[in-house]
Amino acid sequence: MTIKQLEKITKKASDELLQAKDQRDLEKLRIKYLGRKSELTRILRSIKNLPQKKRPIMGAKANEIRKRIEDLYNDATEKMKISKALDKDEEIDVTIPVKAQAIGHIHPITQMLWRAEEIFQKMGFEIFEPFEIDDDYHNFESVNIPPGHPARDLWDTFWTEDGFIPITHTSSMQVRILKSRKPPIRAVVPGKVFRNERTDPRHEHTLSQIEGIYVDKGISLSDMIGTLKTFFDAFYGKDVQVKVVPDYFPFVEPGNGMNLSCVICDMKGCRVCKHTGWLEILGCGMIHPNVLREGGIDPDVYSGFAWGFGLDRLVMLKYGIEDIRHFRNGDLRFIRQF
Ligand code: DAH
Repeated sequence: MTIKQLEKITKKASDELLQAKDQRDLEKLRIKYLGRKSELTRILRSIKNLPQKKRPIMGAKANEIRKRIEDLYNDATEKMKISKALDKDEEIDVTIPVKAQAIGHIHPITQMLWRAEEIFQKMGFEIFEPFEIDDDYHNFESVNIPPGHPARDLWDTFWTEDGFIPITHTSSMQVRILKSRKPPIRAVVPGKVFRNERTDPRHEHTLSQIEGIYVDKGISLSDMIGTLKTFFDAFYGKDVQVKVVPDYFPFVEPGNGMNLSCVICDMKGCRVCKHTGWLEILGCGMIHPNVLREGGIDPDVYSGFAWGFGLDRLVMLKYGIEDIRHFRNGDLRFIRQF
């Protein structure tokens, strides 16, 4: 028996499940592929006779295949129910609350986004959604990046003919939020952002970002450090260390980067943290007076901090995912692991 044979069984099962016409067909296929006398069950039973070296690999693979076929079967059953209801022209009661998950599987980024939102909400932050396409003023000028500013090169992406761009960062919402609220202002902006990126295991053209701002009287960098550390402790479910280093972003002064103690090796040193014990995780700083003023907030009275991080990276670190491109390539085998 080889891995190829196992893959073949999955492919066959998947094809046949797609062809099933009714519940009886599905039941037959369940017995054929998952039943006691199925080829797969036979293979699983015979693993104990393999040479010891081969056992763990084949065992893991065969179990994975079994789980995959079970998922395919469950999806097909669910779809069958829906299409039957539609065929019968049954009245669908649109007021019935949806099941949390009817079919399919919640994407790991979405799962972790919900978790991040919940943590920030408990800390008193309000959630704002960005516009996916916005104008030059909101993406650049309002956050202290005037035309011709060299920082634009970093985010040079795609423009529509009438001057809109897919947002390059969720900082595009900062000034809108400042204008629409009175301090204290606590807001997070989770959203998709788009980059002109040559993709590789660590770079993608589309990513999920969470921007945050906190504005009130007497806010300082120590509030920022405390807020973000509290978030990361909750997000990773352990006591992490944070380190603030200098960095530059036009919309903050001072501008900082925040490093996180490596959540994979707990600072013992590993490949992911390049044996430094630290991970570069986000950009942050004290909101630039020009940005506060643009949002109608007097920088002589109020101060605030802001940050932006990529959720993809946080999720990669949480689960030890080695290639960012897995997230958006649509392969359900990847998604279903979470
Ligand atoms: N907008 C930055 C980016 O996309 C991230 C960022 C850095 C946001 C510093 C901030 C900040 O609010 O203060 O790379």
